[in-house]
Amino acid sequence: MISKHGQVYSESLEKAASSIVSEHLVRGFIVGLGSGFAVSRFAAVLGAAIKRKELEVNVVPSSMQAWRLARENGIPLYSDSSHCPPSLDVCVDGADEISIADRSMIKGGGGALLREKILLSNSKLSLILADESKFVTMLSRPVPLEVIQFACLSVEKVVTERFGAKPVLRSLEKGYPYFTESGNVILDCDLPQDVIGKATSLERELKQIPGVVETGIFTCKVDKFYRARRDGQFDVL
Ligand code: A5P
Repeated sequence: MISKHGQVYSESLEKAASSIVSEHLVRGFIVGLGSGFAVSRFAAVLGAAIKRKELEVNVVPSSMQAWRLARENGIPLYSDSSHCPPSLDVCVDGADEISIADRSMIKGGGGALLREKILLSNSKLSLILADESKFVTMLSRPVPLEVIQFACLSVEKVVTERFGAKPVLRSLEKGYPYFTESGNVILDCDLPQDVIGKATSLERELKQIPGVVETGIFTCKVDKFYRARRDGQFDVL
């Protein structure tokens, strides 16, 4: 189901996606497929191009949602479903928040941060597709931390004491804990502004805590940001 927010940006996301497909995708490419609504618009455009026989690519999905998007849109999957190839040609993903100042991002709202970071970090070309509401002067959303269940209490203690965070165990509607596709839990950590502002050191320090599998702070290289606007157009940053 497309949310009202999604409807507002569908047209511009699809225009941006068409530009990605025509400018950056070439027959035979292996493409990392992120997760989320923006990626669903990209998958629709890519699937249509494949159907028209304009393109042949294989995708590596970042999540079961992405896997479904590939299937539903007739996009062939990369043959080895259990391993990420060491080098992908392109990765297209969305984001929850993007800092206009230093281009760092918060991702993981949908819980797919672990595979998303692996795909983005191993792509020759990394592209982010997001609507304009995601571009902010200062990151401020709670940062998702994917944590091994066994370590959730110790990680909670460290991030609270060392970073002044307020971690919340991500839960499903009825209160059951949310488990990622890799079987871990997520701590959503509300961090003070001065801490979240130093994204590169924060990402490194969070990763060093025993039990943290991945952080939702992304400072990896992004080659282009496609910013979808309300007026139906898009910008490339
Ligand atoms: C998934 O875990 C996230 O990192 C998504 O990339 C992010 O939530 C963007 O999704 P939307 O395009 O739905 O906002």
